[in-house]
Amino acid sequence: MLQKIYDWIDERIDITPIWRDIADHEVPEHVNPAHHFSAFVYCFGGLTFFVTVIQILSGMFLTMYYVPDIENAWDSVFYLQQEVAHGQIVRGMHHWGASVVIVMLFLHTLRVFFQGAYKKPRELNWIVGVLIFFVMLALGLTGYLLPWDNKAYFATTVTADIAASIPFIGEDLKTLLTGDPNIIGAQTLTRFFAIHVFFLPAALFVLLAAHFIMIRRQGISGPL
Ligand code: HEM
Repeated sequence: MLQKIYDWIDERIDITPIWRDIADHEVPEHVNPAHHFSAFVYCFGGLTFFVTVIQILSGMFLTMYYVPDIENAWDSVFYLQQEVAHGQIVRGMHHWGASVVIVMLFLHTLRVFFQGAYKKPRELNWIVGVLIFFVMLALGLTGYLLPWDNKAYFATTVTADIAASIPFIGEDLKTLLTGDPNIIGAQTLTRFFAIHVFFLPAALFVLLAAHFIMIRRQGISGPL
């Protein structure tokens, strides 16, 4: 029956070429560790993507219980951990994944750097990569405040003060981030929440699309 549904859709809007284009694309020999063991370094981009997908999925489930206001945020996380079925696992995945993804991202960047894969014609993809790097770090930073415990509160106090120390624009930047120049409070939490779950993921989506389109067009750089 599934085949019939597929055929029905395919006959009308010709979807086969879309997934064939990805499924039939061969992995070049020089990135296959079965041929050259040292090619394992090419895995880190894919692993970064894999953990990013885990972050997005686990994060979506977290928002089903998380309440982004200062009265309820901590309690909602506590409830999720203690009472909700599998809540501990979902939060644990998001918590540890946040660190693992940065490690993978770093290893991927080192691979690209030490192989000189950023050189012509891949300069634009390196620039997109640097933007992705900032987005990923900002995701970690904004997510850290959300449990609204002491660690979160004081980490963000330090971050806001670092922002404020930038010459000329510092104070304004701090106000923009925290919503109030004097306290890390209700406005900061909703702002960080919005940035964490809407603004940055949207930016990441666009940047990753550009990253992957460029990789397909240019191919993965050849042997050294
Ligand atoms: C979420 C973050 C990222 C993901 C999921 C990702 C994914 C990938 C993947 C799957 C590849 C194919 C080759 C490989 O896996 O090594 C690749 C290539 C590349 N990436 Fe990334 N990447 C990310 C971040 C970055 C960053 C931070 C940089 C640099 C600052 C970067 C620069 C590049 C460049 C220049 C290439 C082409 C390398 C070549 O052709 O050998 N990427 N990326």
